[in-house]
Amino acid sequence: MSKLWGARFDKKSHPLADQFTFSISYDYRLAKYDVIGSIAHAQMLGKQGIIPKSDATKIVAGLKKLLAQIKSGKFKYDPKAEDIHTDIQNRLKGLIGKPADKLHTARSRNDQVVLDVKLYCLDEINGLLVAITGLQKAIVGFGKKNQEVIIPGYTHLQAAQVVLLAHHMLAYVEMLERDKTRLQGCFMRTDVTPLGSCALSGTSLKTDRDYITKLLGFAQTAVNSMDAVSDRDFIVELIADCSMVAMHLSRMSEDLILWATKEFDFIDIDASFCTGSSIMPHKKNPDVLELMRGTSGKIFGHLTEILVLLKGLPLAYNRDLQLDKPPLFDTAETTQNMLSVMAELFANLKVKKDKVAKRIHDESFFTVDVMEYLIKKGASHRDAHDVLGKMVKECLDKGIALSSLSTVRLKSYHPYFAEDVKKLFNPQTSVKIKISLGSTNPNLVAQQLQQWSKKLHA
Ligand code: ARG
Repeated sequence: MSKLWGARFDKKSHPLADQFTFSISYDYRLAKYDVIGSIAHAQMLGKQGIIPKSDATKIVAGLKKLLAQIKSGKFKYDPKAEDIHTDIQNRLKGLIGKPADKLHTARSRNDQVVLDVKLYCLDEINGLLVAITGLQKAIVGFGKKNQEVIIPGYTHLQAAQVVLLAHHMLAYVEMLERDKTRLQGCFMRTDVTPLGSCALSGTSLKTDRDYITKLLGFAQTAVNSMDAVSDRDFIVELIADCSMVAMHLSRMSEDLILWATKEFDFIDIDASFCTGSSIMPHKKNPDVLELMRGTSGKIFGHLTEILVLLKGLPLAYNRDLQLDKPPLFDTAETTQNMLSVMAELFANLKVKKDKVAKRIHDESFFTVDVMEYLIKKGASHRDAHDVLGKMVKECLDKGIALSSLSTVRLKSYHPYFAEDVKKLFNPQTSVKIKISLGSTNPNLVAQQLQQWSKKLHA
Protein backbone atom coordinates (compact mmCIF):
# COMPACT_ATOMS: atom_id res chain seq x y z
CA MET A 1 0.00 0.00 0.00
CA SER A 2 1.31 3.41 -0.87
CA LYS A 3 2.71 5.66 1.84
CA LEU A 4 1.82 9.31 2.31
CA TRP A 5 5.42 10.19 1.46
CA GLY A 6 8.08 8.61 -0.74
CA ALA A 7 8.74 10.85 -3.74
CA ARG A 8 11.95 12.03 -2.15
CA PHE A 9 13.29 8.50 -1.73
CA ASP A 10 15.14 6.49 -4.33
CA LYS A 11 14.64 3.24 -2.44
CA LYS A 12 11.75 1.32 -0.97
CA SER A 13 11.82 1.03 2.78
CA HIS A 14 13.20 -2.22 4.19
CA PRO A 15 10.48 -4.66 5.29
CA LEU A 16 12.05 -4.80 8.75
CA ALA A 17 11.97 -1.01 8.99
CA ASP A 18 8.32 -1.09 7.95
CA GLN A 19 7.51 -3.72 10.51
CA PHE A 20 9.29 -1.72 13.18
CA THR A 21 7.68 1.63 12.37
CA PHE A 22 4.11 0.73 11.40
CA SER A 23 1.44 1.53 13.97
CA ILE A 24 -1.67 0.28 12.19
CA SER A 25 -1.83 -2.87 14.35
CA TYR A 26 -2.92 -0.68 17.26
CA ASP A 27 -3.91 2.73 15.91
CA TYR A 28 -6.70 1.10 13.82
CA ARG A 29 -8.77 1.93 16.93
CA LEU A 30 -8.65 5.55 15.77
CA ALA A 31 -10.33 4.84 12.41
CA LYS A 32 -13.67 6.36 13.40
CA TYR A 33 -12.09 9.49 14.85
CA ASP A 34 -9.77 9.89 11.90
CA VAL A 35 -12.71 9.93 9.51
CA ILE A 36 -14.79 12.27 11.69
CA GLY A 37 -11.85 14.69 11.91
CA SER A 38 -11.27 14.50 8.18
CA ILE A 39 -14.92 15.24 7.40
CA ALA A 40 -14.71 18.47 9.43
CA HIS A 41 -11.37 19.32 7.83
CA ALA A 42 -12.70 18.84 4.29
CA GLN A 43 -15.75 20.95 5.09
CA MET A 44 -13.51 23.73 6.33
CA LEU A 45 -11.27 23.52 3.23
CA GLY A 46 -14.35 23.80 1.00
CA LYS A 47 -15.91 26.65 2.96
CA GLN A 48 -12.65 28.61 2.83
CA GLY A 49 -12.24 28.00 -0.90
CA ILE A 50 -8.87 26.33 -0.27
CA ILE A 51 -10.14 23.41 -2.33
CA PRO A 52 -13.12 23.50 -4.73
CA LYS A 53 -16.45 23.03 -2.96
CA SER A 54 -17.28 20.17 -5.36
CA ASP A 55 -14.13 18.30 -4.29
CA ALA A 56 -14.95 18.89 -0.63
CA THR A 57 -18.41 17.44 -1.23
CA LYS A 58 -16.95 14.33 -2.90
CA ILE A 59 -14.41 13.91 -0.10
CA VAL A 60 -17.10 14.19 2.58
CA ALA A 61 -19.36 11.72 0.75
CA GLY A 62 -16.49 9.22 0.47
CA LEU A 63 -15.54 9.64 4.10
CA LYS A 64 -19.15 9.12 5.17
CA LYS A 65 -19.15 5.80 3.32
CA LEU A 66 -16.02 4.80 5.21
CA LEU A 67 -17.57 5.94 8.49
CA ALA A 68 -20.61 3.74 7.86
CA GLN A 69 -18.30 0.77 7.19
CA ILE A 70 -16.39 1.45 10.40
CA LYS A 71 -19.55 1.82 12.48
CA SER A 72 -21.08 -1.38 11.10
CA GLY A 73 -17.88 -3.32 11.79
CA LYS A 74 -17.32 -4.02 8.06
CA PHE A 75 -14.13 -1.98 7.88
CA LYS A 76 -11.03 -4.18 8.06
CA TYR A 77 -7.81 -2.24 8.40
CA ASP A 78 -5.04 -2.90 5.92
CA PRO A 79 -2.01 -4.23 7.81
CA LYS A 80 0.22 -3.07 4.94
CA ALA A 81 -0.66 0.59 5.56
CA GLU A 82 1.80 2.51 7.71
CA ASP A 83 -0.88 3.81 10.05
CA ILE A 84 -4.62 4.38 10.18
CA HIS A 85 -4.28 7.86 8.65
CA THR A 86 -2.56 6.36 5.59
CA ASP A 87 -5.10 3.57 5.38
CA ILE A 88 -8.08 5.95 5.42
CA GLN A 89 -6.42 8.24 2.87
CA ASN A 90 -5.72 5.31 0.52
CA ARG A 91 -9.24 3.97 0.80
CA LEU A 92 -10.73 7.37 0.12
CA LYS A 93 -8.62 7.53 -3.03
CA GLY A 94 -9.98 4.12 -4.01
CA LEU A 95 -13.53 5.35 -3.48
CA ILE A 96 -13.48 8.81 -5.04
CA GLY A 97 -10.22 9.03 -7.01
CA LYS A 98 -8.31 12.28 -7.59
CA PRO A 99 -10.23 14.66 -5.26
CA ALA A 100 -8.97 12.55 -2.34
CA ASP A 101 -5.50 13.99 -2.94
CA LYS A 102 -6.74 17.37 -1.69
CA LEU A 103 -7.88 16.18 1.75
CA HIS A 104 -4.48 16.48 3.41
CA THR A 105 -4.18 20.19 2.46
CA ALA A 106 -3.31 22.43 5.41
CA ARG A 107 -2.72 19.63 7.86
CA SER A 108 -0.07 17.10 8.75
CA ARG A 109 -0.30 13.75 10.44
CA ASN A 110 1.24 15.51 13.43
CA ASP A 111 -1.89 17.55 14.17
CA GLN A 112 -4.17 14.88 12.71
CA VAL A 113 -2.99 12.17 15.09
CA VAL A 114 -3.40 14.37 18.18
CA LEU A 115 -6.91 15.22 17.04
CA ASP A 116 -7.77 11.54 16.63
CA VAL A 117 -6.31 10.63 20.00
CA LYS A 118 -8.14 13.50 21.68
CA LEU A 119 -11.46 12.42 20.19
CA TYR A 120 -10.72 8.88 21.41
CA CYS A 121 -9.87 10.14 24.91
CA LEU A 122 -13.02 12.27 25.16
CA ASP A 123 -15.16 9.26 24.25
CA GLU A 124 -13.29 7.03 26.69
CA ILE A 125 -13.65 9.57 29.49
CA ASN A 126 -17.41 9.64 28.94
CA GLY A 127 -17.46 5.85 29.02
CA LEU A 128 -15.37 5.76 32.18
CA LEU A 129 -17.66 8.26 33.90
CA VAL A 130 -20.66 6.06 33.13
CA ALA A 131 -18.82 2.93 34.29
CA ILE A 132 -17.72 4.55 37.56
CA THR A 133 -21.27 5.67 38.21
CA GLY A 134 -22.41 2.10 37.53
CA LEU A 135 -20.01 0.76 40.13
CA GLN A 136 -21.03 3.44 42.63
CA LYS A 137 -24.67 2.40 42.15
CA ALA A 138 -23.78 -1.25 42.73
CA ILE A 139 -21.89 -0.38 45.93
CA VAL A 140 -24.72 1.81 47.25
CA GLY A 141 -27.18 -1.00 46.42
CA PHE A 142 -25.01 -3.43 48.36
CA GLY A 143 -24.87 -0.99 51.28
CA LYS A 144 -28.65 -0.59 51.28
CA LYS A 145 -29.23 -4.34 51.21
CA ASN A 146 -27.04 -4.69 54.29
CA GLN A 147 -27.85 -1.43 55.98
CA GLU A 148 -28.05 -2.81 59.52
CA VAL A 149 -24.87 -4.88 59.33
CA ILE A 150 -22.11 -3.87 61.74
CA ILE A 151 -18.56 -5.06 61.11
CA PRO A 152 -15.25 -4.69 62.90
CA GLY A 153 -13.36 -1.68 61.55
CA TYR A 154 -9.58 -1.96 61.36
CA THR A 155 -6.53 0.23 61.73
CA HIS A 156 -3.12 -1.39 61.18
CA LEU A 157 -5.30 -4.37 60.19
CA GLN A 158 -5.93 -4.81 63.92
CA ALA A 159 -9.54 -4.77 65.10
CA ALA A 160 -10.25 -1.16 66.16
CA GLN A 161 -13.87 -0.01 66.49
CA VAL A 162 -17.14 -1.26 65.06
CA VAL A 163 -18.60 0.49 62.02
CA LEU A 164 -21.53 -0.04 59.70
CA LEU A 165 -20.62 -2.11 56.66
CA ALA A 166 -22.44 0.52 54.57
CA HIS A 167 -20.19 3.21 56.07
CA HIS A 168 -17.12 1.25 55.02
CA MET A 169 -18.50 0.83 51.49
CA LEU A 170 -19.52 4.47 51.15
CA ALA A 171 -15.87 5.39 51.69
CA TYR A 172 -15.21 3.84 48.27
CA VAL A 173 -18.16 5.69 46.75
CA GLU A 174 -16.51 8.95 47.87
CA MET A 175 -13.16 7.92 46.38
CA LEU A 176 -14.81 7.01 43.09
CA GLU A 177 -16.60 10.34 43.05
CA ARG A 178 -13.26 12.13 43.31
CA ASP A 179 -12.02 9.95 40.44
CA LYS A 180 -14.91 11.25 38.36
CA THR A 181 -14.09 14.88 39.08
CA ARG A 182 -10.49 14.21 38.08
CA LEU A 183 -11.66 12.71 34.80
CA GLN A 184 -13.96 15.68 34.25
CA GLY A 185 -10.98 17.99 34.71
CA CYS A 186 -9.00 15.89 32.25
CA PHE A 187 -11.92 16.15 29.80
CA MET A 188 -11.85 19.93 30.05
CA ARG A 189 -8.13 20.14 29.32
CA THR A 190 -8.39 17.61 26.46
CA ASP A 191 -11.30 19.46 24.86
CA VAL A 192 -9.07 21.72 22.70
CA THR A 193 -8.63 21.09 18.99
CA PRO A 194 -5.07 20.86 17.63
CA LEU A 195 -6.14 20.47 13.96
CA GLY A 196 -4.78 23.10 11.63
CA SER A 197 -1.49 23.38 13.52
CA CYS A 198 -0.01 21.33 10.66
CA ALA A 199 3.51 19.94 11.10
CA LEU A 200 4.52 22.46 13.78
CA SER A 201 4.37 26.04 12.52
CA GLY A 202 0.87 26.48 11.10
CA THR A 203 0.08 27.21 7.44
CA SER A 204 0.12 30.04 4.90
CA LEU A 205 -3.28 28.85 3.63
CA LYS A 206 -6.34 30.76 4.79
CA THR A 207 -7.83 28.14 7.12
CA ASP A 208 -10.59 28.63 9.68
CA ARG A 209 -9.53 26.59 12.66
CA ASP A 210 -12.38 27.78 14.86
CA TYR A 211 -14.83 26.43 12.30
CA ILE A 212 -13.36 22.93 12.77
CA THR A 213 -13.56 23.39 16.52
CA LYS A 214 -17.25 24.22 16.15
CA LEU A 215 -17.98 21.36 13.75
CA LEU A 216 -16.34 18.80 16.01
CA GLY A 217 -17.89 20.24 19.17
CA PHE A 218 -14.60 21.05 20.89
CA ALA A 219 -14.65 23.77 23.54
CA GLN A 220 -11.53 25.61 22.34
CA THR A 221 -8.96 25.87 19.57
CA ALA A 222 -5.31 25.36 20.55
CA VAL A 223 -3.52 28.72 20.45
CA ASN A 224 0.06 27.53 19.95
CA SER A 225 0.75 25.21 17.02
CA MET A 226 3.93 23.79 18.56
CA ASP A 227 2.18 23.03 21.82
CA ALA A 228 -0.75 21.51 19.93
CA VAL A 229 1.36 18.91 18.08
CA SER A 230 3.68 18.16 21.01
CA ASP A 231 1.16 18.05 23.82
CA ARG A 232 0.48 14.63 25.29
CA ASP A 233 -0.31 15.95 28.79
CA PHE A 234 -3.89 14.84 28.35
CA ILE A 235 -2.72 11.25 27.87
CA VAL A 236 -0.56 11.38 30.98
CA GLU A 237 -3.51 12.82 32.85
CA LEU A 238 -5.95 10.21 31.64
CA ILE A 239 -3.58 7.38 32.53
CA ALA A 240 -2.94 8.99 35.94
CA ASP A 241 -6.67 9.31 36.55
CA CYS A 242 -7.20 5.69 35.53
CA SER A 243 -4.32 4.71 37.82
CA MET A 244 -6.20 6.30 40.69
CA VAL A 245 -9.36 4.40 39.76
CA ALA A 246 -7.38 1.17 39.47
CA MET A 247 -5.69 1.81 42.82
CA HIS A 248 -9.11 2.27 44.43
CA LEU A 249 -10.38 -0.91 42.81
CA SER A 250 -7.30 -2.71 44.04
CA ARG A 251 -7.84 -1.59 47.65
CA MET A 252 -11.48 -2.58 47.39
CA SER A 253 -10.40 -5.97 46.07
CA GLU A 254 -8.01 -6.41 48.96
CA ASP A 255 -10.81 -5.71 51.47
CA LEU A 256 -13.07 -8.23 49.77
CA ILE A 257 -10.32 -10.85 49.46
CA LEU A 258 -9.65 -10.57 53.21
CA TRP A 259 -13.33 -10.64 54.06
CA ALA A 260 -13.81 -13.78 51.97
CA THR A 261 -11.13 -15.74 53.88
CA LYS A 262 -12.12 -18.38 56.44
CA GLU A 263 -10.34 -16.21 59.02
CA PHE A 264 -12.63 -13.22 58.43
CA ASP A 265 -15.60 -14.99 56.84
CA PHE A 266 -17.70 -11.84 56.41
CA ILE A 267 -18.80 -12.32 52.80
CA ASP A 268 -19.60 -14.87 50.17
CA ILE A 269 -18.36 -13.98 46.70
CA ASP A 270 -20.70 -15.46 44.11
CA ALA A 271 -19.31 -18.68 42.62
CA SER A 272 -19.61 -17.13 39.15
CA PHE A 273 -16.82 -14.73 40.14
CA CYS A 274 -14.53 -17.36 41.69
CA THR A 275 -12.37 -20.17 40.41
CA GLY A 276 -11.29 -23.56 41.76
CA SER A 277 -8.01 -25.34 42.26
CA SER A 278 -6.68 -28.08 39.98
CA ILE A 279 -5.44 -30.04 42.98
CA MET A 280 -7.39 -28.93 46.07
CA PRO A 281 -11.00 -29.92 45.47
CA HIS A 282 -12.37 -27.74 48.28
CA LYS A 283 -10.99 -24.42 47.04
CA LYS A 284 -13.07 -21.44 45.95
CA ASN A 285 -10.62 -18.71 45.10
CA PRO A 286 -11.26 -14.99 44.60
CA ASP A 287 -9.19 -14.86 41.39
CA VAL A 288 -11.25 -12.09 39.82
CA LEU A 289 -10.37 -9.80 42.71
CA GLU A 290 -6.76 -10.92 42.76
CA LEU A 291 -6.47 -10.09 39.07
CA MET A 292 -8.11 -6.76 39.75
CA ARG A 293 -5.35 -6.07 42.28
CA GLY A 294 -2.67 -7.36 39.90
CA THR A 295 -3.98 -5.50 36.86
CA SER A 296 -3.77 -2.19 38.66
CA GLY A 297 0.02 -2.66 38.63
CA LYS A 298 -0.01 -2.87 34.84
CA ILE A 299 -1.79 0.48 34.65
CA PHE A 300 0.71 2.13 36.99
CA GLY A 301 3.37 0.74 34.62
CA HIS A 302 1.69 2.55 31.72
CA LEU A 303 1.85 5.81 33.67
CA THR A 304 5.59 5.40 34.06
CA GLU A 305 5.86 4.38 30.41
CA ILE A 306 4.19 7.55 29.08
CA LEU A 307 6.11 9.85 31.43
CA VAL A 308 9.45 8.33 30.44
CA LEU A 309 8.44 8.44 26.76
CA LEU A 310 7.83 12.19 26.98
CA LYS A 311 10.48 13.43 29.32
CA GLY A 312 13.36 13.61 26.87
CA LEU A 313 11.54 14.81 23.75
CA PRO A 314 12.51 18.15 22.24
CA LEU A 315 9.65 20.07 20.59
CA ALA A 316 7.84 19.46 18.38
CA TYR A 317 6.75 16.08 16.92
CA ASN A 318 9.03 13.08 17.31
CA ARG A 319 8.14 9.61 16.15
CA ASP A 320 8.52 8.39 19.73
CA LEU A 321 5.09 9.95 20.22
CA GLN A 322 3.53 7.15 18.22
CA LEU A 323 4.23 4.97 21.25
CA ASP A 324 1.80 6.98 23.37
CA LYS A 325 -1.01 4.82 22.03
CA PRO A 326 -0.43 1.28 23.33
CA PRO A 327 -0.32 2.38 27.00
CA LEU A 328 -3.25 4.75 26.47
CA PHE A 329 -5.50 2.20 24.74
CA ASP A 330 -4.67 -0.53 27.21
CA THR A 331 -5.25 1.74 30.20
CA ALA A 332 -8.61 3.05 29.02
CA GLU A 333 -9.91 -0.34 27.93
CA THR A 334 -8.60 -2.22 30.97
CA THR A 335 -10.01 0.34 33.42
CA GLN A 336 -13.41 0.14 31.73
CA ASN A 337 -13.31 -3.64 32.05
CA MET A 338 -12.28 -3.57 35.67
CA LEU A 339 -15.16 -1.22 36.52
CA SER A 340 -17.75 -3.38 34.78
CA VAL A 341 -16.48 -6.57 36.41
CA MET A 342 -16.43 -4.97 39.85
CA ALA A 343 -19.98 -3.62 39.50
CA GLU A 344 -21.28 -7.06 38.54
CA LEU A 345 -19.37 -8.70 41.39
CA PHE A 346 -20.99 -6.30 43.89
CA ALA A 347 -24.45 -6.97 42.51
CA ASN A 348 -23.96 -10.65 43.46
CA LEU A 349 -22.06 -10.23 46.73
CA LYS A 350 -23.58 -11.72 49.89
CA VAL A 351 -22.84 -10.85 53.50
CA LYS A 352 -22.66 -13.69 56.03
CA LYS A 353 -24.72 -11.73 58.53
CA ASP A 354 -24.78 -14.40 61.27
CA LYS A 355 -21.05 -14.90 61.11
CA VAL A 356 -20.29 -11.16 61.18
CA ALA A 357 -22.71 -10.64 64.07
CA LYS A 358 -20.59 -12.98 66.21
CA ARG A 359 -17.45 -10.94 65.58
CA ILE A 360 -18.51 -7.57 66.91
CA HIS A 361 -18.88 -8.28 70.63
CA ASP A 362 -15.22 -8.16 71.62
CA GLU A 363 -15.31 -5.46 74.30
CA SER A 364 -12.08 -3.84 73.22
CA PHE A 365 -14.14 -2.37 70.35
CA PHE A 366 -15.81 -0.11 72.93
CA THR A 367 -12.87 1.34 74.91
CA VAL A 368 -13.07 4.69 73.12
CA ASP A 369 -16.80 4.87 73.88
CA VAL A 370 -16.05 4.27 77.59
CA MET A 371 -13.29 6.86 77.46
CA GLU A 372 -15.70 9.41 75.99
CA TYR A 373 -18.19 8.47 78.74
CA LEU A 374 -15.65 9.75 81.27
CA ILE A 375 -14.82 12.80 79.16
CA LYS A 376 -18.53 13.72 78.94
CA LYS A 377 -18.56 13.70 82.76
CA GLY A 378 -15.61 16.06 82.93
CA ALA A 379 -12.48 13.87 82.83
CA SER A 380 -9.57 14.96 80.66
CA HIS A 381 -8.74 12.87 77.60
CA ARG A 382 -5.37 11.98 79.10
CA ASP A 383 -6.82 10.78 82.42
CA ALA A 384 -9.57 8.83 80.71
CA HIS A 385 -7.06 7.21 78.34
CA ASP A 386 -4.82 6.16 81.25
CA VAL A 387 -7.77 4.73 83.14
CA LEU A 388 -8.97 2.67 80.20
CA GLY A 389 -5.42 1.51 79.50
CA LYS A 390 -5.07 0.22 83.05
CA MET A 391 -8.50 -1.43 82.94
CA VAL A 392 -7.70 -3.19 79.69
CA LYS A 393 -4.41 -4.41 81.14
CA GLU A 394 -6.08 -5.81 84.28
CA CYS A 395 -8.69 -7.60 82.17
CA LEU A 396 -6.08 -9.02 79.80
CA ASP A 397 -3.92 -10.22 82.73
CA LYS A 398 -6.88 -11.87 84.44
CA GLY A 399 -8.52 -13.07 81.23
CA ILE A 400 -11.80 -11.36 82.06
CA ALA A 401 -14.17 -9.04 80.23
CA LEU A 402 -14.26 -5.28 80.90
CA SER A 403 -17.99 -5.50 81.54
CA SER A 404 -17.39 -8.03 84.32
CA LEU A 405 -15.58 -5.45 86.48
CA SER A 406 -17.82 -4.56 89.41
CA THR A 407 -19.11 -1.03 89.84
CA VAL A 408 -17.00 -0.76 93.00
CA ARG A 409 -13.91 -1.80 91.04
CA LEU A 410 -14.80 0.63 88.27
CA LYS A 411 -15.17 3.47 90.76
CA SER A 412 -11.72 2.63 92.11
CA TYR A 413 -10.45 3.35 88.62
CA HIS A 414 -12.39 6.60 88.33
CA PRO A 415 -15.08 8.17 90.55
CA TYR A 416 -17.14 9.16 87.49
CA PHE A 417 -17.93 5.52 86.70
CA ALA A 418 -21.48 4.38 87.44
CA GLU A 419 -23.55 1.29 86.59
CA ASP A 420 -24.83 2.82 83.32
CA VAL A 421 -21.40 2.50 81.72
CA LYS A 422 -22.15 -1.17 81.06
CA LYS A 423 -24.71 -0.17 78.42
CA LEU A 424 -21.79 0.88 76.26
CA PHE A 425 -20.53 -2.66 75.73
CA ASN A 426 -22.77 -3.15 72.76
CA PRO A 427 -22.06 -2.79 69.05
CA GLN A 428 -25.44 -1.26 68.16
CA THR A 429 -24.99 1.34 70.90
CA SER A 430 -21.44 1.98 69.78
CA VAL A 431 -22.45 3.06 66.26
CA LYS A 432 -25.56 4.89 67.49
CA ILE A 433 -23.70 7.14 69.92
CA LYS A 434 -21.36 8.40 67.19
CA ILE A 435 -22.87 11.75 66.30
CA SER A 436 -20.08 13.64 64.54
CA LEU A 437 -20.64 14.65 60.95
CA GLY A 438 -19.41 11.92 58.62
CA SER A 439 -19.41 9.29 61.38
CA THR A 440 -20.79 5.78 61.26
CA ASN A 441 -24.06 6.83 62.98
CA PRO A 442 -26.86 4.73 61.41
CA ASN A 443 -29.07 7.75 60.71
CA LEU A 444 -26.24 9.63 59.06
CA VAL A 445 -25.24 6.57 57.02
CA ALA A 446 -28.87 6.05 55.97
CA GLN A 447 -28.98 9.68 54.86
CA GLN A 448 -25.77 9.21 52.89
CA LEU A 449 -27.13 6.11 51.17
CA GLN A 450 -30.27 8.04 50.29
CA GLN A 451 -28.37 11.03 48.98
CA TRP A 452 -26.02 8.89 46.89
CA SER A 453 -28.92 6.91 45.37
CA LYS A 454 -30.62 10.12 44.41
CA LYS A 455 -27.48 11.68 42.98
CA LEU A 456 -26.36 8.58 41.07
CA HIS A 457 -29.76 7.86 39.56
CA ALA A 458 -30.38 11.51 38.61
N1 ARG B 1 1.59 7.10 13.23
C1 ARG B 1 2.08 8.37 13.66
C2 ARG B 1 1.80 8.54 15.17
O1 ARG B 1 1.04 7.79 15.69
C3 ARG B 1 1.42 9.45 12.91
C4 ARG B 1 2.23 10.69 12.78
C5 ARG B 1 3.37 10.51 11.84
N2 ARG B 1 4.04 11.75 11.61
C6 ARG B 1 5.24 11.81 11.09
N3 ARG B 1 5.76 12.99 10.96
N4 ARG B 1 5.91 10.74 10.80
O2 ARG B 1 2.34 9.40 15.81
